[in-house]
Amino acid sequence: MKIKKLHTQVAIIGGGPSGLLLSQILMRQNIETIIIEAQSREYVLKRIRAGVLEHDSVELLKNSGVGERVLRNGMKHDGFLISSDNDSFRIDLSVATGKSVYVYGQTEVTIDLYKAQDKMKAKIFHSVKDVDISDLNSTKSKVQFNYLKQNYEITCDYIAGCDGSKGISKNYIPKKIQKKYIINYPFSWLGILANTKPANDELIYASHKRGFALASMRNENLSRYYIQTSHTEKIENWPDELFWEELCIRLPKPYCERLERGESIEKSITKIRSLILEPMQWGNLFLAGDAAHIMPPTGAKGLNLAFSDVFYLSEGFISYYKKGSSTKLKNYSKTTLKRVWKTVRFSKWMTSILHNSSENSLIERNLNTLELEKIKKSKNAQKLVAEQYVGAPY
Ligand code: FAD
Ligand code: PHB
Repeated sequence: MKIKKLHTQVAIIGGGPSGLLLSQILMRQNIETIIIEAQSREYVLKRIRAGVLEHDSVELLKNSGVGERVLRNGMKHDGFLISSDNDSFRIDLSVATGKSVYVYGQTEVTIDLYKAQDKMKAKIFHSVKDVDISDLNSTKSKVQFNYLKQNYEITCDYIAGCDGSKGISKNYIPKKIQKKYIINYPFSWLGILANTKPANDELIYASHKRGFALASMRNENLSRYYIQTSHTEKIENWPDELFWEELCIRLPKPYCERLERGESIEKSITKIRSLILEPMQWGNLFLAGDAAHIMPPTGAKGLNLAFSDVFYLSEGFISYYKKGSSTKLKNYSKTTLKRVWKTVRFSKWMTSILHNSSENSLIERNLNTLELEKIKKSKNAQKLVAEQYVGAPY
């Protein structure tokens, strides 16, 4: 079969939020891109994931011409609650940092990015198969794939691996230079989405002796809730009624009493883990987002970290194509990994103080309760939490 040949400056593997935002920023600078995505657009848009955008993620979307809807429909949150059994306190983000976060679903961000990319006539191939990368240390690298039973080859200057935790890009960084750091937590998050009024107008991160729970939302009539379960738990064991009952037990009483229950419209289970890959660059290949690191969702960092990678990577490409300097690209992995590790520390800390990692560990529970009491009493401790939750500036 004849191979169809294409050429671009930056070939992007993965049409999730990282790949789309990178393409959006580069195209606005007249840098050519082609995105290839393994799934259909409908599938990508259906994936319910992140819900909280840091201040700088919203700024980045705004500066990339995709901020209009998040500013109009997103919910600006100036704080959130942390509870321990029936006791709760508030982290005031805006008082502590002068910044807020936005509750705006990843699905909505992805819709906005696809719309903007369509408007710019971006080249996006969906449902591609057999993706292969080669010539990473030559002046022209290659990406091969199959699309609608036709084989394609893209020659390009650079390849951005934005293909998430299950992607293939990272496999092209030679094993002998790759370092992988993994934390497997002994629990999962069972999440549901329901057309009900949220339990509170701000998020509640609830620590409880039976396990963690999170009350979040997507809008005034759409709630997103999670409960910690064992890492071997199966979704079939959690009919809606049982989920609501367990969630209610873990939330402080007043929120449980006003909890609006309803039929779940999505239910999923996610094993909680951290994974960090180093380096994030090899030859002409640059990794961004979940392709290089996975965070436990407790600190709401995964998507935000993906966006900060995209920011640094786009700065590198812009500096190369517009000023002829490859310094930022050369430093990409080092610069980005500094931020990654700070985020790993915060996400791990927040995960460990709010979850019970073994069913009967009273020691751990007592220590976590003490830590939460300390934060409740100390404005300085609250400021530290707030600063990390809203995210450091790029
Ligand atoms: P992905 O979204 O995984 O996109 C990668 C894309 O690459 C996919 O579309 C995939 O189909 C495609 N792909 C894979 N392989 C190939 C291939 N071989 N060829 C071509 N394409 C390929 N983050 C936050 O910041 N805040 C939160 O509140 C938050 N909550 C979360 C809650 C849950 C339950 C979960 C699971 C995650 C949460 N996250 C959160 C994390 C966030 O969803 C991810 O960090 C984010 O999706 C990363 O985006 P990405 O584009 O890098 O990767
Ligand atoms: C969500 O709404 O999906 C969400 C919010 C905050 C988190 C994780 C997930 O920390």
